[in-house]
Formats: sequence, structure tokens, C-alpha cells
Amino acid sequence: MNQTAIGVLLNGVTGRMGYRQHLLRSVLAIREQGGVELPDGTRVQLEPILAGRNAAKLKELADRHGLTAWTTDVDSALDDVRIYFDAQLTSAREPSVRKAIAAGKHVYAEKPLADTLPAALELAGLARDAGICHGVVHDKLFLPGLRKLRRLVDGGFFGRVLSVRGEFGYWVFEGDWQEAQRPSWNYRAEDGGGIVLDMFCHWNYVLENLFGAVRAVTAKATTHIPRRWDEQGEPYAATADDAAYGIFELESGAIAQINSSWSTRVFRDELVEFQVDGTEGSAVAGLRRCRVQHRSATPKPVWNPDLPATEPFREQWQEVPDNAEFDNGFKAQWEEFVRDVVAGRQHRYDFFSAARGLQLAEAGLTSSAEGRRIELKPLT
Ligand SMILES: NC(=O)c1ccc[n+]([C@@H]2O[C@H](COP(=O)([O-])OP(=O)(O)OC[C@H]3O[C@@H](n4cnc5c(N)ncnc54)[C@H](O)[C@@H]3O)[C@@H](O)[C@H]2O)c1
Repeated sequence: MNQTAIGVLLNGVTGRMGYRQHLLRSVLAIREQGGVELPDGTRVQLEPILAGRNAAKLKELADRHGLTAWTTDVDSALDDVRIYFDAQLTSAREPSVRKAIAAGKHVYAEKPLADTLPAALELAGLARDAGICHGVVHDKLFLPGLRKLRRLVDGGFFGRVLSVRGEFGYWVFEGDWQEAQRPSWNYRAEDGGGIVLDMFCHWNYVLENLFGAVRAVTAKATTHIPRRWDEQGEPYAATADDAAYGIFELESGAIAQINSSWSTRVFRDELVEFQVDGTEGSAVAGLRRCRVQHRSATPKPVWNPDLPATEPFREQWQEVPDNAEFDNGFKAQWEEFVRDVVAGRQHRYDFFSAARGLQLAEAGLTSSAEGRRIELKPLT
């Protein structure tokens, strides 16, 4: 088989993620650099077919980027590619992925893989039985800040990790007096929206890959803003959760606590930040930066509310250097997936990992609804 070009069908490419991160920053960037470099130094080029529901939008996108292949007939176009990629809104993903697996295509998809855990597990089983390469976007692991965190973990910087505290969020405008900066379906449960479904999938693979599997969750999800305005300026009921406060117990005994909110204003250096405290040292990692404080350099603050703060706490941390060039995280994972397809091996961030993300999201929602701690059993 000719390995010098691989056809990829990109579905949902008119959307926010499909266009910016996957077409522009990944597939087109890979094409511009001459393809994905393989271990033997040769390159494999990507030949995209843009797919979606709106012919005019697809044609405009294709023209804008000098592409010729686009289609609204996704099923037929599967015949012309080796990889099917899906960045449609979540509720539309499952049937499309199912068809791509049945057609024997390798499948790469945005998260969450499906709306529900049973659906995601079924897709994972089908993909495994079909012998295809399957992967789901795990972009946070490719962020410079988290890659530096990974380096610290691998280098034994933390000693025993005690706790992880994550803060994710920003204010998403309601859409009345200022346009919302995220699509309205995110705020409607009936359309697959909700911050738990969206973010707990990320938190599962971040925690699992850096600090160990999540074994129990206690969460409170809520809808702080019950009324929003959609893309047409029409008011709608926000039926999905827009904030979630979660405690995650890890297999190692470490406790992670992560706030996720689209109803908070940022007083942080980055839109997501994790503080990791270990016996030997602590780190604060964001999208790009990572700062550390070793136990040997830990100051000894003394609680005295009668005095103003005497120590410049933020200055007592040391910046972790880049020591490498960090490419766009979405592109880096695309390249890894393509190399896996060419090598005929499995992708490490597969549908089973995606299913575990959904397991955590569903457990978080159950915990919130029933007001109790939920243990997660390993998926079989
Ligand atoms: N990895 C990440 O960090 C990240 C961030 C945001 C969103 N996402 C995921 O990416 C996916 C797309 O999110 P987005 O923010 O780009 O959404 P979006 O609304 O901007 O795009 C949705 C895409 O799906 C298509 N679509 C197909 N069927 C549809 C239908 N019935 N109704 C409406 N649109 C339909 C749209 O045409 C569009 O191309 C979601 O699954 C979301 O969870 C991932």
C-alpha cells in the first residue's frame, strides 16, 4: 500500500474545534510542513476531505485553504479514505463513528467519544474487534505546562504526591448584551452539553496519566446561569450544568480536587492551573508555564492575621524551563495517531481511555444528583 499519502475524512470541520484546532492548526499545518515524519525519516502526507452538513460552508472553507475535496455525503466518502475524524457536536458522534468502524476505517475523534458510557464502551469493543487504530483527543496531556509536569513526575521531583488542586474556568457570556464565546448546545443537556460531560473526560485522562487512576468521585454539579441567549439572539433555558466541584480519590491515595466553571472570573495566570503538592516538592502548572518549590526551599510562613503578608509567596517559586520546542498539542497528537496508523499499532489514547472518561463523568453526575461518593470499578 502506498504510504506516502493518507486520505482523512474530517467531519464537523465547520465547527469551532474542527476548524481551528484540527483543520487549521493540525491537518493544514502538517500538510504545510510536508507531512508527518516517520521514524525512518520519510514522510506521509495527509489528503483531507472536508465533510459536514452545509455545502456552502464546506466549499467556502475548501476554497479559503486551497482544498478541492469536500462533501455532504459522509457515508460515501468513507470509501476514499483510511482515517475518519469526528469533531461534530457530541450527540452526533456515536452513529458516525459506528459507521466508520463498520467500514473498516481507522477512527480519531474529539472527546467525549459518545453521550453515554455504554455507548462509548460499545464503540471501543467494536473498534477493537475490527482491528482498527482508534483514538480520542487527549489534548491537555500535550500542553507545554502539563508536559513539564510530566517531566517532574518522571524525574521523581514530588516524592509521594499528596494532592492535586485544579482550577479551570472563565466567564462565558450569557449571550444577551455580549455574544457568548462558546456554542449554545454546550448549555443544553438535551444536546449533549454540560461541563461535567465536557471536562471530567479531560480530568480523567490527565489524572490517570500523570498521577494514577481515579477510584472514587464526589462531585456537585450545578447550573449557575439558568437562562442564556443562542447564536440567533433567542433566549433559551440552560438545562445543562455550567459548573462542577469535584473531589477525585486516586489509586495512589492522592486526592485531587478540581473546580470546573463557565461562571467564574479569572484571577489566575492561565485558564487552567493545577497545584501538585508532594512530600519532596510542589508545582503549579498551567497551559504553558510550570513553577516549582522544592522542600529544601520551602519558606515557613506563620499565621498572624494582625500583620500584612510579609512574604512575597509567588516569588518563592522557580520557573521550569522549556528545554524543548512545544508544537501545538492537537497537531502533536494527530502526528502520533498517523504514525500509529502507518505502523499498524494501537494508539495509546484509545476508545477505552475515552470510555473511562465517560465513566468518570457519569459517576460525577450521579454523585451530584444523589449527594454521595461514587466508587469507580475498573471497566471490563
Ligand atoms: N478537546 C477539547 O479541548 C475540546 C474543546 C471544545 C470542544 N470539544 C469537543 O469538540 C466537539 C465540537 O465542539 P465545538 O465547540 O467545535 O462545537 P461547534 O458547535 O462549534 O461545532 C459542531 C460541529 O458539529 C456539526 N454538527 C453535526 N451535526 C450537528 C447537529 N445536529 N447540530 C449542530 N451541529 C452539528 C456542526 O456543523 C459543526 O461543524 C464536541 O464534541 C466537544 O465536546 C473539545
